[in-house]
Amino acid sequence: MWDQRVFLTEIETLDYAIRPLNLPPRNPGRGWTVVGDVLVVNAIGRVFMAAYDDPFRAVDALLAELGERAPRVRILDWHAEATSEKNAMGWHLDGRFSAVVGSHTHIPTADARVLPAGTAFVSDTGMVGPRDSVLGVDPKIVVDRFITGIPKRFEVAKDGPVVFNSVLIDVDGSTGRARSIERVDRTWERAA
Ligand SMILES: [Fe+2]
Repeated sequence: MWDQRVFLTEIETLDYAIRPLNLPPRNPGRGWTVVGDVLVVNAIGRVFMAAYDDPFRAVDALLAELGERAPRVRILDWHAEATSEKNAMGWHLDGRFSAVVGSHTHIPTADARVLPAGTAFVSDTGMVGPRDSVLGVDPKIVVDRFITGIPKRFEVAKDGPVVFNSVLIDVDGSTGRARSIERVDRTWERAA
């Protein structure tokens, strides 16, 4: 978090910019916002990540705090590494969020579905960016870093097609329950 130092002060001035809900106390910004009739929350995982506060309890605490004021339609951007932790959050929030949508790995997963109590879930949405890359970075640089261990400046991959990975979720606005979730993935050749 906060690699871009300017964001430490700027985030307080931006209505729709959120940061993970489960950062420790005294971090600037906030972990949720309401856009129209939709509650949008971001949480960050702890498995193979830095030491953050418990994301499961943080989301519980937010729902308890908002109570009846919480919009029915609720989306969690669930920024985590391990599929086990991501999957567990889907089950934890099943019936309490409209959608739990995984991010962070940039690798789209084939598990998009609506859980039994009406929460649309996918472990990872994927990436919008250069296909022939490792998280958007030129593969040669990343491979070299794995082999040598020597840090080298990351450069965006400039060759090959561009991918757009996403999910399309249909939600009943009166109940907040998801009716469906489907992957929408496209690839384009880059203009020369
Ligand atoms: Fe990330």
